Amino acid sequence: MAPPTPPYDLVAYRARIPLLRTTIPLNNCSQAPQSDATRAAALAYLDSWDAVGMDWDAWMAEVDRARAAFAALIGAAPDEIAVSSSVSEATSSLASALGPARERRRIVSTHAEFPTVGHVWLAQERRGLAVDWVPVTDGVVRLEDYDPVLDGRTLLVSATHGYYQTGALQDLAAIAQRAHAVGALVYVDAYQTLGTRPLDVKTLDLDFLASGTLKFLMGMPGIAFLYVSPKICDHLYPTVTGWFGREHPFAFDLGKLDWAKGARRFDTGTPPIVNAAVARAGIELIASVGLERIRSWTETLSRRLVEGGRARGFAVLGTTDSTRKAPTTAFRVRDAHAAEAALRSRGILASARGPAIRLAPHFYNTLEEIDRALDALAEVVPPEERA
Ligand SMILES: Cc1ncc(COP(=O)(O)O)c(C=O)c1O
Repeated sequence: MAPPTPPYDLVAYRARIPLLRTTIPLNNCSQAPQSDATRAAALAYLDSWDAVGMDWDAWMAEVDRARAAFAALIGAAPDEIAVSSSVSEATSSLASALGPARERRRIVSTHAEFPTVGHVWLAQERRGLAVDWVPVTDGVVRLEDYDPVLDGRTLLVSATHGYYQTGALQDLAAIAQRAHAVGALVYVDAYQTLGTRPLDVKTLDLDFLASGTLKFLMGMPGIAFLYVSPKICDHLYPTVTGWFGREHPFAFDLGKLDWAKGARRFDTGTPPIVNAAVARAGIELIASVGLERIRSWTETLSRRLVEGGRARGFAVLGTTDSTRKAPTTAFRVRDAHAAEAALRSRGILASARGPAIRLAPHFYNTLEEIDRALDALAEVVPPEERA
């Protein structure tokens, strides 16, 4: 039987990613490689800066194109998206607009949260809020473990879509339904999954969603987006703010503090312009491949990783069901950083996190690359170190 192939022109897409000539990038859970599209977008900004010196109108239009591209990716409208420099900044701005209300002072989060998001919630304890934690069990968060901590005192439920350590997915629709049933809002960090599968904030009934673009969205650091539901947005007043959060930033009215309509009220300072150009190009590249097609191919790659890793004596941290995780697979090893360095010296990019080495393929990877990476992993991690 012929080996499976993706339903798009893999060779043509691979030719657009120069790194693939020398390297096997399986570190998309950390930083995706550069493509011709993202490089051209960055250069267009540098050329504009060089040729005309200053072109604020065109540069702001570039930021709005990125806003619109991100909105389309998650089924939202552009005015439901704020532009930030990081998930930390976006989430801090959101937190500053939440509570504490007399009867609702609790934030429910999980031990699968990326630390920066958990830290933003913990910082709210100084403002009179408190955090309730849902545990991680065997590398996954179990839906039923939300139940004991959800009640009428819950202000917000914070759920990461894909757990950064193991890739394990959470059932966002079910979490939103549980949160809303007790009158709480829902925030999702989708950084580890956007670009790997379709996601629609309206169908899922989410209130907030944040993500940057340097992982599976094929972008770079320095920019992140925050979706804010129009059902509640205009009742929120972030105090982590700046002049771009105003209705008319260019009025330069020092004495007038208003909040722009829609999610722009969560914008802060001068936006990350070159990063926006790159983010838009990365998102468009992903959209051109197609999210459903990426989901299907990365599940095939993920299955190969899980089966091939186990066949070589590695234990998977988290779920082994490729339909219930991001493309990331985490193998337990005694020294993940040593494994990452040894793989890198063989031209394979992986990413160490905690007790595991993560291999995170994307739409451009081949089954042969997975096999080569697993062979190399088995070479650099002796059986006694496959903890
Ligand atoms: C799930 C997740 N959230 C957030 C971050 C980081 O967010 P920030 O943009 O604040 O650095 C990462 C990784 O860098 C991540 O994997």
